[in-house]
Amino acid sequence: MCGIVGYTGQKDCVEFILKGLTRLEYRGYDSAGIAVMEKGRIGVRKAKGRLKNLKNLVEDNPLKGRTGIGHTRWATHGEPSDINAHPHVDVNHQIAIVHNGIIENSYVLRRGLEQKGIRFISETDTEVVVQLFAYYYKDDMLNTLYRVLPMLEGSFALGVIDQHRPDTIYCTRKGSPLIVGESKEGNLIASDIPAILEYSRDIYFLEEMEIAVVEPAAIRFYDEMGNFIKKESSHIDWDMEAAEKDGYAHFMLKEIYQQPKVLADTLNHYVDLEKMAIRREMMPFSPSEAQALDKLTLIGCGTAYHAGLMGQSLVSRLARLQSECDMASEFRYKDPIIEKNEAFVVISQSGETADTIAALRLAKASGSKVAALCNVIGSTIAREAHQLLYTVAGPEIAVASTKAYSAQVLVLMILALDLAHLRGRLSDEELKAGLAELAALPQKAEALLEQKEHIQYFASRQFNCKKIFFIGRLLDFYLAMEAALKQKEISYIHSEAYSAGELKHGPLALIEEGTLVMAMTTQHHVMDKMASNIQEARVRGGTVVAVGSSPTPELRAVAEVWELPPVDDRFAPLLAIIPMQLFAYYMALQRGCDIDKPRNLAKSVTVE
Ligand code: M6R
Repeated sequence: MCGIVGYTGQKDCVEFILKGLTRLEYRGYDSAGIAVMEKGRIGVRKAKGRLKNLKNLVEDNPLKGRTGIGHTRWATHGEPSDINAHPHVDVNHQIAIVHNGIIENSYVLRRGLEQKGIRFISETDTEVVVQLFAYYYKDDMLNTLYRVLPMLEGSFALGVIDQHRPDTIYCTRKGSPLIVGESKEGNLIASDIPAILEYSRDIYFLEEMEIAVVEPAAIRFYDEMGNFIKKESSHIDWDMEAAEKDGYAHFMLKEIYQQPKVLADTLNHYVDLEKMAIRREMMPFSPSEAQALDKLTLIGCGTAYHAGLMGQSLVSRLARLQSECDMASEFRYKDPIIEKNEAFVVISQSGETADTIAALRLAKASGSKVAALCNVIGSTIAREAHQLLYTVAGPEIAVASTKAYSAQVLVLMILALDLAHLRGRLSDEELKAGLAELAALPQKAEALLEQKEHIQYFASRQFNCKKIFFIGRLLDFYLAMEAALKQKEISYIHSEAYSAGELKHGPLALIEEGTLVMAMTTQHHVMDKMASNIQEARVRGGTVVAVGSSPTPELRAVAEVWELPPVDDRFAPLLAIIPMQLFAYYMALQRGCDIDKPRNLAKSVTVE
């Protein structure tokens, strides 16, 4: 949730760190700070609020040095404030650290240190760690890490500088990601690849409890037991442009507009479009595994969970395979029944969501095969799963997920078709026809984006509304859940997703004159039912928009229709989400919200 960056080399570290923090601001943005080794002493600047406050502070009160660490924070322990911002230093001002994650036993550790006479100045769990380092420090930081790390419960990614070795950064991780980058200009550490991509494309991914000792011209790695280890770097070939706004007002808008390309790239990754055949080597299940499966469980959080719901519905319907979707945050606490022939797909854009990692580990421990549907190669989830189902969406920066969701849903559609075919539920011809439908989606998505003015105008009339209902049946209900999440997340309008058939069992009481109801109507076999549900809302004063293709006259009679290009019902939600994303975007824009960095949220939730 927070961001870490550090540099040690021959150049001034401040520029490297501030640039890295700028790229990480989407990870957390309630305060930021930097610690620099200045002539053998640690200089610290911290500021509450957005990164620009820190930049102004550093401009007014400069720091200069060749080794330093920086942090952008999303508060967990202690309110956002200058004091609680990272880096934190020990009482003697000899060690400074930045930390992502949560130290779950910090209260006990703090009490112990206080009893030994150590005075704390912040409310954070991180300060406990730096005070422990100082208390147990003998003559070397590496030994100190081995002494203190076993005392820490919870999750951490740590970057540490120590006055005794002024050109060295120590770093380690447990449950929170951390990478080390090599470059000609010096070496870097970071919590996320975009932070250092400008300088380094040769990245080392730290495994749990590994320690890296990073010097200007050397990087050494040690395992949990203190053994020196040799690690291979991974070359990252992302385009730097991908981490820029490219002339769009917001990352979210750029990412919405990237969707036709993301769909095409993801499709190409899994499907040979000339032969209209699925690339077998990309799929997680061999024909015999697919036939032997008794159950497929999908797991994710937030938007990834919504993609999973779509996936489980398609897998059950097309492949006639029992399939469920669980929230990762609930999975490990519900004492799940795991079948003998059950497999899992864990879904995560970032690959670093703490709850999803825990679910993955639990599923693996049961002996089941686990595939990861993930957008970040090298992330914890991508590395730990038995097989990676990669979404070719490129870096997603806006907190509200758009293109990653579309790519996730598309891969799940391909998986459902594949399983259906392998289990004898779809003929070769039917599979080809399904793939051909998918292949037509990027162009249709492009056409839909051209309708943005209409949505923008609608938002300009509705942006003051107090609540919105998103309703639908079957796949459209899951679509409604995602549409409602987008709306509440960035426009802060109370948005409820409801299964349309359930309206009259309670929520209809909330519909009054002018209540906005967005009805998802992509499933033709229940379109008449939807028309009745819409009518129920309309006669109570609701203003209804229906989103779908080829609407029936009955539907047109009861709602304003936002029409989609003609599309197979099974795949229609992938198009219908686009106007819903644009609608959320323009509502938020009208309301003056901070679209890319909505209040109280962070891009990846690496704490439980
Ligand atoms: O990185 P992940 O896909 O694991 O993240 C899961 C959720 O935190 C994420 O989808 C969240 O709900 C988004 N902000 C939704 O737009």
